[in-house]
Amino acid sequence: MYLILLGLPGAGKGTQAALIAQAARIVHITSGELFRENIRKQTELGREAQPFVEQGKLVPDELTVGMLLDRISQPDAVKGFVLDGFPRNVDQAKALDEALAGNGKTIDMALYIEVSTDELVRRLSGRWNCGKCGAVYHEESRPPKVSGACDRCSGQLYQREDDRPDVVRTRLKVNVKEMEPLLQYYRSGCKLYEVNGELGVDAVKDDLLEAMSRGQEVR
Ligand code: AP5
Ligand code: MG
Repeated sequence: MYLILLGLPGAGKGTQAALIAQAARIVHITSGELFRENIRKQTELGREAQPFVEQGKLVPDELTVGMLLDRISQPDAVKGFVLDGFPRNVDQAKALDEALAGNGKTIDMALYIEVSTDELVRRLSGRWNCGKCGAVYHEESRPPKVSGACDRCSGQLYQREDDRPDVVRTRLKVNVKEMEPLLQYYRSGCKLYEVNGELGVDAVKDDLLEAMSRGQEVR
C-alpha cells in the first residue's frame, strides 16, 4: 500500500504513521525527520534546509521533492510506505504522482487527521520526542513510564526547537494555507479519507485502519 497521512502540525501524523506502518508492515517515512537528520549531520541539504525548519517555514520544493523521491526509491519502500509530512502542497503532490506513475504505481489513499487549533497547540507544547528511535510522547496524554526516557529504547527524550510558541504559530499559519488545496487535490481523485483526530490515540488508529480496509475494498 502507498499511503499518505495528512494533518496540521501536532495532529498526530508521526504517532499514527508509526502504528499504521507496523500494522500494514510498510515503511514509515517522515520528511521532517529526514530534514532533522540532515541538519544534525550538517549535510549540504541540512545546511540549506535549516533556516526554514528553525523558523517553521516550508523548505523549498527544489530541496524537499528530491529528498523524498530519493527516499521512496530505496529498497525498503518498494512494496509500500506511509508518508508523514509529505506532500505539503499541490506541487509536491503532483511531483509524487508523476514519479510513482513512472514506475506504474499510484497513491492508494490520503488519510486526513483533523484536529482543532486549540488542541494542536496543547499537543505541541507538551510533546517530547525520543532522540534515538523517534517515538513520540506527551506529558499529559501519553507520558513515558520513566520521566525523560523512552519506553521503547530508553533513549533520552527532548523537545523540538520548532515547538517554541512563536515557531508553532508560523508552522500553523503556513500549513493551514496549503492544506485546503491539498485536500481538494486528493478529494477530486477520490483518494481522501478524513478521520476525527480529537479522539484518543487508539481510537484514531482504529478509525484509520478501518478507513484503510474500506479503501482496499473499493479498489
Ligand atoms: P514535521 O516534523 O513533519 O512537523 P509537522 O508537520 O509540524 O508535524 P509534527 O511532527 O509537529 O506533528 P505530528 O502531526 O507528527 O504530531 P505527533 O504525532 O508528533 O516537519 C518539520 C519541519 O520540516 C516543517 O516545519 C518544515 O520546515 C519542514 N518540512 C517537513 N516536511 C516538509 C515538506 N513536505 N515541505 C516543506 N517543508 C517540510 O503528535 C503531537 C503530540 O500530540 C505528541 O505529543 C503526541 O503524543 C500527542 N498526540 C498524538 N495523537 C494524540 C491523540 N490522539 N490524543 C492526544 N494526544 C495525541
Ligand atoms: Mg511528526
